[in-house]
Amino acid sequence: MEKAWLDGLAAVVAEAGRLVEDIARQGFDTQFKNPDERRDPVTTADLACDAFLKERLLALLPEAGWLSEETKDRPDRLTKRWVWIVDPIDGTREFVRRIPEYAVSVALARDGEPVAGAVVNPATGDRFLGAVGVGAWRNGKPITCSRDRGERLIILGSRSEMNRGEFEPFADVLDVRAVGSIAYKLALVAAGEADGTFSLGPKHEWDIAAGVALVLAAGGQVHDGAGLPFRFNRPNTLTHGILAATREAHADLALLLERHAPRRA
Ligand code: IPD
Ligand code: CA
Ligand code: CA
Repeated sequence: MEKAWLDGLAAVVAEAGRLVEDIARQGFDTQFKNPDERRDPVTTADLACDAFLKERLLALLPEAGWLSEETKDRPDRLTKRWVWIVDPIDGTREFVRRIPEYAVSVALARDGEPVAGAVVNPATGDRFLGAVGVGAWRNGKPITCSRDRGERLIILGSRSEMNRGEFEPFADVLDVRAVGSIAYKLALVAAGEADGTFSLGPKHEWDIAAGVALVLAAGGQVHDGAGLPFRFNRPNTLTHGILAATREAHADLALLLERHAPRRA
């Protein structure tokens, strides 16, 4: 993949991040996807960012299909070789609470494989970009998904999964830190800020595709709950389980998960 083309992707996603922050400053409306549960908020910022990304990304690669959390799904994406996989705001709960841990997340898949990913944290301006087999960058500087291991491995965990006690089995062996947005957690792992991140629960393709591309592009390892590489642009976009880690920590974390939470597949 050519660097000029990647720069185009980075510019669009950075602009989307600025759009989200402008809306955050001006004010936004919040609704719940299921009003009875009040668990999954969606705001006018999610929808505006979705519309912006759709226009700009499809202009960048007109032959690509489109899969986004905030666009009604269309089966024609399944016939496309290239597909944009987009979460306009990952971590909307954090966005609504003004916790600066949410992200614009954009991936490009080819024949189901993650090819490129861009993740921007609009609140901090932190920008991550990667192309598998080419390289990965944070704010324009090369990154590697690698770090020296400390006494205990540092894991980035979901705030809600921690509140539900899902990380308790690992409390004695891992140093688990709460961070919102799985896309942002994966980006931080790609940059070597932690040894890994994992989730045992379901995620949609748009939550993880960009982060998976970043981790792979930065030389880390990532697999699903069955220990398999991710394939994207599937008819059912729900995935089950994810472990992403540095090359130094991945094998030990996979073993630990196997012991505490055996694979279902
Ligand atoms: C959520 C975030 C969060 C993950 C949830 C997702 P949303 O996405 O990715 O990190 O743990 O499973 O639903 O709803 O903020 O786009
Ligand atoms: Ca999401
Ligand atoms: Ca979202």
